[in-house]
Amino acid sequence: MSRQNTLHVPSLRFRLLLWLLVPGLVLAAGLLTKNYLGVKEVADRVQDRLLVALAVTISEHVINSSGDMLSRDIELLLSQFTREDTYYRVNGPNGAFVTGHYALPELSVDTPIQPGVPQFYNTVYLGEDVRVVTMKYLVSGSGLQGWVTIDVTQTRRERDRLVRDELLGSATDFVVLMILGGLFAWIGVTRGLAPLQQLQQAIRRRSTDDLRPIRHVMPREVSEVVFALNGLLERLERSISANQRFIADASHQLRTPLATVQAEAEWARRHASNEADRDALDRILIETRQTARLATQLLNLARVSPEGRKATSASRVDLVDFAARVTGDWVSPALRHGIDLGFEDHSNAMSCHVDNASEVLLREMLVNLIENALAYCSEGSSVTVRVIGPASAIGPVLEIEDDGPGIPLADRQRVLDRFVRLDGSNNHGCGLGLSIVREVADAHRADLILDDGTRGRGLKISVVFPF
Ligand SMILES: Nc1ncnc2c1ncn2[C@@H]1O[C@H](COP(=O)(O)OP(=O)(O)OP(=O)(O)O)[C@@H](O)[C@H]1O
Ligand SMILES: [Mg+2]
Repeated sequence: MSRQNTLHVPSLRFRLLLWLLVPGLVLAAGLLTKNYLGVKEVADRVQDRLLVALAVTISEHVINSSGDMLSRDIELLLSQFTREDTYYRVNGPNGAFVTGHYALPELSVDTPIQPGVPQFYNTVYLGEDVRVVTMKYLVSGSGLQGWVTIDVTQTRRERDRLVRDELLGSATDFVVLMILGGLFAWIGVTRGLAPLQQLQQAIRRRSTDDLRPIRHVMPREVSEVVFALNGLLERLERSISANQRFIADASHQLRTPLATVQAEAEWARRHASNEADRDALDRILIETRQTARLATQLLNLARVSPEGRKATSASRVDLVDFAARVTGDWVSPALRHGIDLGFEDHSNAMSCHVDNASEVLLREMLVNLIENALAYCSEGSSVTVRVIGPASAIGPVLEIEDDGPGIPLADRQRVLDRFVRLDGSNNHGCGLGLSIVREVADAHRADLILDDGTRGRGLKISVVFPF
């Protein structure tokens, strides 16, 4: 699945955080509500008890003072102590107003007041929310006898403030809790997902030809995935091996009959009696040579492919010595093409060894590069194979430079693909040489750079080995 296709699928981290944080949020909101209701109830209860105490006190005062109102000092003390405005009214046993605030709200007539049982309710007085207690209180002496009715009303400012403060405090705790919870959840999820990240990196680090099983120790849930992946890798490797073997066998099988056809065609060409036969046999010979070249290159490609490489042994190769030897072998063929092939040692006496290298593969690479230079440069050209010593952060470089037609910048990437030949190339190749070169460079973890020749002419191909 491409990265784009996965964009609308929520990430695992998102899902885990969602499932951790949303229930946490709901839980915390529930606790906050419960806390708020609890505090409200306690505040109401405290205020109600205070109201009853005030009602009793005021009734006693009225009895003792024969119906006088509370003194200004007591009222002041009361409001300072409770931080609320307190109003009261006392009605005599016959319901007549005795003292206090005449205009206080009345309890609805439907609610009977039982003697000694306080009734509480909320209402509005002087434009403010108030809490009221109404109760009957038995008095005797100093003019008043029987059950007086007393209403004590108190504003709810302080009580509301207390509840608000409490709510604010809980809400602050709630926010801090959510932030810390979110942070810990994030850390936990990140740590929990770390094995998946490791697996991702292990797969990313792999080159395309490394099909060995993944050996990382993983938690049980992930190891199931790794197990399945390793099974797939194994099947893939088997299938690729079978394909490679088939290509190698097929090209090998083709080479012998092709050589026979070629030899027969050459013999027939030599003994042909007329021009038309000779032309036809020439065409057969060209096609046969090209098919033979294709079979050879296919076999070479199979040899340098990841599967074929397994058969070659790795060793330490001295690049200067190796390149000088291979170039030496090709000086005579180059001369036959009228091309001056030379070797330059720019190692500056530095070690130009390549570790874990395969000389067989390196030879295949260099031969293909020399063959290309000889095939695409015209007579009189010069071709140079060069070895440059390692520099900062890069290892030794094997270069081959010619002053032929070169490869246009736009085509330098695609010529490395299989069966790509540029327009105007002669007919002898099959477009596999540079693919072989790239495979060998990859096998040695070397970079392949195609550039203009030094004098702005021709082609310079550099194989930069790792440090
Ligand atoms: N030194 C060069 N100068 C100019 N063009 C080149 C050079 N080397 C390669 N090319 C171009 O790149 C193309 C691909 O080269 P490559 O070696 O992959 O295939 P080929 O030479 O056509 O076939 P073969 O597989 O037989 O080598 C060539 O067809 C040619 O057009
Ligand atoms: Mg070639």
